[in-house]
Amino acid sequence: MGWRGLRSVDSCFSQAELRGIFPHWKWMSMTNASADSQPGAWEYHAVAKVGDLAENSGQSVPLKGTVIGLFLSGNTYYAISDFCPHQGASLSGGYVEEGLVMCPWHAWKFRLSDGAWADSLKSPIRCASYPVRVVGDTIEIGLPVTPS
Ligand code: FES
Repeated sequence: MGWRGLRSVDSCFSQAELRGIFPHWKWMSMTNASADSQPGAWEYHAVAKVGDLAENSGQSVPLKGTVIGLFLSGNTYYAISDFCPHQGASLSGGYVEEGLVMCPWHAWKFRLSDGAWADSLKSPIRCASYPVRVVGDTIEIGLPVTPS
């Protein structure tokens, strides 16, 4: 299976139509917490070992009260929220290819690098994304440091 042949939501509805049909989407969208936007504001947590994930696969990672999807695609690790902003499916169980994950429930696609909704990149709908680093053979995910 590949992405070709799947229609983009953009090709079916305008943004105004989508907002009218699904008014709850706005509050369901999550903040993108990319590593670039707040350098140094991350606390890293060991979550897996190199070799735990096969290429083009995901793994659900419970971490500090949230659940994150850890992915390996194109020999690069990515971390985004494991909850699909549509209806909450676990994205880590989705089909992964070319830096994208396709939700297993209704086939929405998300860009692993930043959690953007790949079917409609101008949409505010997105998954939170988290920085990932590899230290030795340990994979670590960064969570935002919260002021104490
Ligand atoms: S729950 Fe993910 S696309 Fe519907």
